[in-house]
Amino acid sequence: MKITIQTQPISGMKPGTSGLRKKVTVFQQPHYLANFVASIFAAVKPEGGFTGKTLVVGGDGRYFNLEAIQVVLRMAAAQGFARVLVGQHGILSTPAASCVIRKYKAFGGIILSASHNSGGPEGDFGIKFNGDNGGPAPEKITDAIYEYSTHITAYDMVEAADVDVGRIGMHTVGDMTVEVIDSVVDYQELMQQLFDFDVLRAFFKSGFTMKFDAMHAVTGPYAHAIFEDALGAAKGTVMNGTPSPDFNGHHPDPNLVHAKELYDIMMGEHAPDFGAASDGDGDRNLIIGRDMFVSPSDSLAVLAANATCAPAYAKGLAGVARSMPTSGAVDRVAAALGVECFETPTGWKFFGNLLDAGRITLCGEESAGTGSDHVREKDGVWAVLLWISILAKRRMSVVDIMKEHWATYGRNYYTRHDYEEVETEAANSVMNHIKAQLPTLVGQSLGGLKVAAADDFSYLDPIDGSVSNNQGLRVVFEGGSRIVYRLSGTGTSGATIRVYIERYEADPALHDLDTQVALSGLIAIANDFSQIAQKTGRLQPTVIT
Ligand code: G6P
Ligand code: ZN
Repeated sequence: MKITIQTQPISGMKPGTSGLRKKVTVFQQPHYLANFVASIFAAVKPEGGFTGKTLVVGGDGRYFNLEAIQVVLRMAAAQGFARVLVGQHGILSTPAASCVIRKYKAFGGIILSASHNSGGPEGDFGIKFNGDNGGPAPEKITDAIYEYSTHITAYDMVEAADVDVGRIGMHTVGDMTVEVIDSVVDYQELMQQLFDFDVLRAFFKSGFTMKFDAMHAVTGPYAHAIFEDALGAAKGTVMNGTPSPDFNGHHPDPNLVHAKELYDIMMGEHAPDFGAASDGDGDRNLIIGRDMFVSPSDSLAVLAANATCAPAYAKGLAGVARSMPTSGAVDRVAAALGVECFETPTGWKFFGNLLDAGRITLCGEESAGTGSDHVREKDGVWAVLLWISILAKRRMSVVDIMKEHWATYGRNYYTRHDYEEVETEAANSVMNHIKAQLPTLVGQSLGGLKVAAADDFSYLDPIDGSVSNNQGLRVVFEGGSRIVYRLSGTGTSGATIRVYIERYEADPALHDLDTQVALSGLIAIANDFSQIAQKTGRLQPTVIT
């Protein structure tokens, strides 16, 4: 039976870089989740309603995932959806959800994840809508969701018992069919189409060794099935491979701070040939060679330069894209390949139109995301498969691949300094202080470097003509060195200031420097110019990547 529940608008439901992210305790407030889900449905409802349509629902398995799924199912049934596909135990990695939406031609999907943010009752939860292309909703939809949330008065639900999402097969909620599906099968099948599993199996058999850190998060089942079972990697290749609602108390963010266990293994005496990690929902990747961390911006460039090593990309790339703060390393590869290179704002949703239009094949971000046109999300396990396809074909170590890459294209030294959980007012004052100086900056000298360009990045989408303003403050120096300042759109408490610093070095004799040393001059300029220390009281960044 369908019931209508009266409610009131709840403030603060504006989706950020990737959906709505809040503390679990915020989502647990009466009506909070339901208000947002109702706002999604209101914003995306087609003219004829949802009758006959299929929805995909899955999450990263974090705390509150299972409760949230039952609410989404009851609300979807009330909207008249014919069918919902749910990953078993409520689990679908974000790229797998994208894959399932596309494969079954669903109307869209609701993904329950707070990505790399911490989980558990005191941790974070998140929710976002992906459209029928499998990609995160564009800004005009997230704006419409928010708008509806500001004047919602009621929402509908079907009264029904909870669905046993542990049991694969058919279930019902009201008149709606709920099909609980294996979380891995469809995704694995797609990977088998893109990569040559026989070649990779032979590579592992020939002695290639790897560690994949699933960080107690969603990629565990995918990694076990693909790397160990299908490709024959030794048992134990996958570490921390059982998803846990609170990620075993860890922060499932694959960076050098939170994936320290893997990092230490890779720097140790018995390091395997290759190391990788993925985040809470399986869309990010961290790549570490024996004795060498590969920055995400460099990883994107290497994947672009060597993509033809995998069958799916053997014909070459249509084009590439990176988010604005991502280093320009991939631009150099694109220029050499003679393909287009696009610069988009931070957020995977901005790649969707370019991918749909066939303008790009590969894309990536400094925030440890790389992906291709196979789905409309970044994809951690895919990135690992492409990397090992390259290693299998080229028979070189990660270190040698990187050295050769820099010798060919030059090296873009790159770092990101994050100041987390800064008081919102202080963070705004830093940004306003920088912004106020931008108009008069060109031609001035900062720390001995002459400013060639300074602006607040705005993006004109070449496919649909939409414009996104205020996407990051850029200071570019003569010679191409760059400092970018941005406020994160994914945090849940206070504000996070991100400072991205980059310098190009053509000389191979200077490609072996420590990144922080190579960038020390620019880092000092970035600190002085922004007055972060004076305005926030923070003398050091919280995280350096
Ligand atoms: C999510 C998005 C990415 C984005 C990242 C960083 O993972 O999917 O596209 O790059 O967040 O966003 P932030 O706003 O925190 O810098
Ligand atoms: Zn993620």
